[in-house]
Amino acid sequence: MLNFDYHAPSRIVFGKDTQKQVGDLLKGYGIKKVLLHYGGGSIKKSGLYDQVIASLKGAGIGWAELGGVKPNPRLTLVREGIALSKKEGAELILAVGGGSVIDSAKAIAAGVCYDGDVWELYQDNSISITKAMPVATILTIPAAGSESSEGTVITDEENSRKYPYNHNLLRPLFSILNPELFFTLPKAQLGYGVADIMSHLFERYFTNTQNTDLTDRLIEANLRTIIKYAPVVYGNMEDYDAWAEIGFGGFTAHGGLFGMGREQDWGCHDMEHELSAYYDVPHGGGLAVLTPAWMTYVYKENVPMFVQFAVNVMGVDGSFRDPDAIVLEGIDRLRAFFKRIGLPGTLAELGIGEDKLEMMAKQGTHTRLSPGQTEKPLGGLKKLYWQDILAIYKLAAK
Ligand code: NZQ
Ligand code: ZN
Repeated sequence: MLNFDYHAPSRIVFGKDTQKQVGDLLKGYGIKKVLLHYGGGSIKKSGLYDQVIASLKGAGIGWAELGGVKPNPRLTLVREGIALSKKEGAELILAVGGGSVIDSAKAIAAGVCYDGDVWELYQDNSISITKAMPVATILTIPAAGSESSEGTVITDEENSRKYPYNHNLLRPLFSILNPELFFTLPKAQLGYGVADIMSHLFERYFTNTQNTDLTDRLIEANLRTIIKYAPVVYGNMEDYDAWAEIGFGGFTAHGGLFGMGREQDWGCHDMEHELSAYYDVPHGGGLAVLTPAWMTYVYKENVPMFVQFAVNVMGVDGSFRDPDAIVLEGIDRLRAFFKRIGLPGTLAELGIGEDKLEMMAKQGTHTRLSPGQTEKPLGGLKKLYWQDILAIYKLAAK
């Protein structure tokens, strides 16, 4: 196990009707005015917007608002939010929505307190902010884990770049997580969310670090829980108890704890960000397609780790069999699981042809280089250079 420093202070307020507490929670922190940030309208349709406004009014909290966050949240709206937040004197950004809204809120929170242009942080992750406005969230989709994470991912739509920025100051002050709010999700979003949660677990799980038993078991338990309950929700989008398990899985998957003491990977995420940047595909859809291809390409780097995954997570019979056969059956079972909850299996199904694959593979490893660096490989378990990435994209193509 590697040394680590763990501090993940986001408060999670979980359960039925908890969104109605938002005004009182903010009041408890001495907040008097917020910037209410939301997406393309789902919260107005579901009635959540009215509940939030009623709760703010009831607690005497003032607000300005900025809706219109798109999936793969855009830099232009972030810049608008920074200006609005300053003009209105907001003390906190209240994000009501999914990962895109929360990430946009975090970018505004960082940008308000940063002297330069906010995009500099995403272009150069070595810049460490010293201050950020607080962010609070009401989560409407379990997926990105941004409700508890230190991360934000923003797209510069004019230049087709999608980059993350991580800082502990960007962890939400509190996040309200009521599984009832997930009932209105379109069925496809369940799959995207589940693929993303599982990927946050895979990115931490597949490692060459030794002596990681406790986190191995925590991750396997989370993965098995998601695999058990996702099909239940797929059959009944209003199953509270099943959504509750997935919601709990989502914020623990990306809260940080499960990655402590182990080298992490993040190759699939970085490869996926190129797909989202160029084709505006849902993050979870890209991950569902790339993950089995990545596993097939890299598993020989650490066969025992992949055997453990196949047996402990995917339920493959591991006795007296060829390890490669066990691993490949595990990957096949993962593909079948993704298909069962409506996820795409190939880049072609996502509407991505082969013409830009080489360009995206090169972009992935040739941007945001450190001084003197000519190529920055992705991943951890196996370092992926552009030729590796292209091979994985091709495996995922059709
Ligand atoms: O915009 P609205 O109208 O609200 O509709 C949204 C959006 O169209 C809809 N939706 C959300 N909750 C709903 C709902 N529709 C009906 N009922 C509800 N309860 O769902 C659509 C997708 O929303 P989005 O916020 O984009 O989804 P998600 O939570 O999957 O977020 C994806 C973004 O998070 C980033 C991804 O890259 C992507 O940009 N990530 C952020 C991370 C982080 N900050 O730590 C880590 C992740 O790895 C990920 O990269
Ligand atoms: Zn993700």
